[in-house]
Amino acid sequence: MLRSFIIIALLMIIFSYNAKAMDLITNVDNRSTVSLNGRWNVIVDPYETGYYDYRYELADDSYFLNEKPIDKTDRVESSFDTDHMLQVPGDWNSQEERMFFYEGTVWYHRLFDYQPKPETRVFLYFGAINYKAIVSINTDILGEHEGGFTPFNFEITNQLREKDNFVIVKADNKRLREAVPTVNTDWFNYGGLTRRVMLIETPETFIRDYLIQLAPGSRERIAGWVQLDGTKTEQQITVRIPEAGIEQTIRSDSLGRAEFDFSAELTLWSPDHPKLYEVEIECESDQLKDRIGFRTIETRGNDILLNGNPAFLRGICIHEEAPFGGGARAFSPEHARTLLGWAKELNCNFVRLAHYPHNEYMTRIADEMGLMVWSEIPVYWTILWENQPTFDNAANQLEEMILRDKNKASVILWSVANETPVKPERTKFLTSLVKLARKLDNTRLITAALEKEYMDDTTIMIDDPLGRELDVVGCNQYLGWYDGLPAKCDNIVWRSAFEKPVIISEFGGGALFGLHGDELTRWSEEFQASVYRHNLDMLDKVKFIKGMTPWILKDFRSPKRQIPRIQDLWNRKGLISDRGERKQAFDILRTFYGRKKPKN
Ligand code: GCU
Repeated sequence: MLRSFIIIALLMIIFSYNAKAMDLITNVDNRSTVSLNGRWNVIVDPYETGYYDYRYELADDSYFLNEKPIDKTDRVESSFDTDHMLQVPGDWNSQEERMFFYEGTVWYHRLFDYQPKPETRVFLYFGAINYKAIVSINTDILGEHEGGFTPFNFEITNQLREKDNFVIVKADNKRLREAVPTVNTDWFNYGGLTRRVMLIETPETFIRDYLIQLAPGSRERIAGWVQLDGTKTEQQITVRIPEAGIEQTIRSDSLGRAEFDFSAELTLWSPDHPKLYEVEIECESDQLKDRIGFRTIETRGNDILLNGNPAFLRGICIHEEAPFGGGARAFSPEHARTLLGWAKELNCNFVRLAHYPHNEYMTRIADEMGLMVWSEIPVYWTILWENQPTFDNAANQLEEMILRDKNKASVILWSVANETPVKPERTKFLTSLVKLARKLDNTRLITAALEKEYMDDTTIMIDDPLGRELDVVGCNQYLGWYDGLPAKCDNIVWRSAFEKPVIISEFGGGALFGLHGDELTRWSEEFQASVYRHNLDMLDKVKFIKGMTPWILKDFRSPKRQIPRIQDLWNRKGLISDRGERKQAFDILRTFYGRKKPKN
């Protein structure tokens, strides 16, 4: 009787819930948290037996029920009491040979005790789950999340008990035509709980989110807001920046929101001087600290202005892959420090985090190390431009990316797309995303990686209509690799239809580390070095190009790359091999950027 009641209740919830991630809690690194990282029990479920019955309808013995046999006669055909465990955070593909190519559902289960605290709310937070997740605790379905690279959280205050809480997650990384990204990508579809999982403990009314940045166009005013979450919405709120002698008190309204705009005398953040201030936000029931840098980023004609001064963005593209270890999603501060350290070694002041929002350690540590960041949503190649749910999904991922990183000085560019075809429905889709990005954040520049076209054999034109909507025009080009041989660069004239800064957001070529030959031997380090030499010579003469992010820092896994003993499912365009070895082209770019560094 009790079980059928639970089943009916669960089915009502499953049918009725369409909860997306609740309002995101930001700055999780500086809150009271309990980590749920570690070994989780898993069930690999390619036929989604734990979710659908034999009529492909929602099963009444869903794995979310976590059922156990009541007596020896009882038939329960699932159990999380498995000895199949996976490490969280971490993709499943890289943890076991049998999971390498797996695409489908994996059920994750974590048991934990929890001592409830008085007047304390508790939220279950995921750094990201690739790709689609349904989350439950103690058989309560909390909601779902779609999108493999942005955080989300659910409140679980009322579901928690002292002993034997269990979180069950249905994680599904099946590629879907209507998804974002869609079915074809040039990166590995690492699935699972790929980033950290934690409980966040907050007071009953707490500081959930805030924006504290320089007012657009000003270097002497800080403007922003604080958002409370809880019943005591109208509170006195204080924002302090002690080192700058700032203390501002404001009052939140009946919706828990308080806005402010005050003058400030600050040392501005820049790659050469990545100044971060201790910022304190306090209300009557909560207090929080953060480390925030203040800088302006604007364009003027073809120039990109950092703190009012023209800047050249010496960049490199990075996929979110661990620096070593044979290919896996990166997720830790150590991974971030190594990858960003390699960029610094290249004399970079800029990184393009391709093709999706990376884990928060990347943007936090870019703040500290002094690297400007291009952050991007995976609207990649051949998205379903006329499908409203696809647009809503892309818009949600854009919002979650901006929500999480809007106080990070390092992030200067939001990118809405990569290499998408020029056609009306695509330009309409992306123009709507650009407008949404501006609404969500009027302090940063909006871009996208576009493609070029030839006007004649030697004249290249950048005139993608989406360029009209962007602040900075990104352009991917592969002269010397997909487009002719390296010497083809030597006679090219570049044109742009826009009086705007252009960033060459990709160029490069492949090489297997240790493979040597003459400059025309494809896949040799010498060929890749020649691609870089000819491209750098060509691009350095184009006055409207104000930055570049060659493709790519490190070799990365891709199922599209199939040449035996050369690629072996690796994209070899890295300047560094998958074992951390530097190819000849690494030094060519490092020297070029060393010369581009302003003499100060
Ligand atoms: C494209 C694409 C990358 C891809 C690269 C390549 O420009 O943006 O995601 O990996 O080319 O072909 O290596």
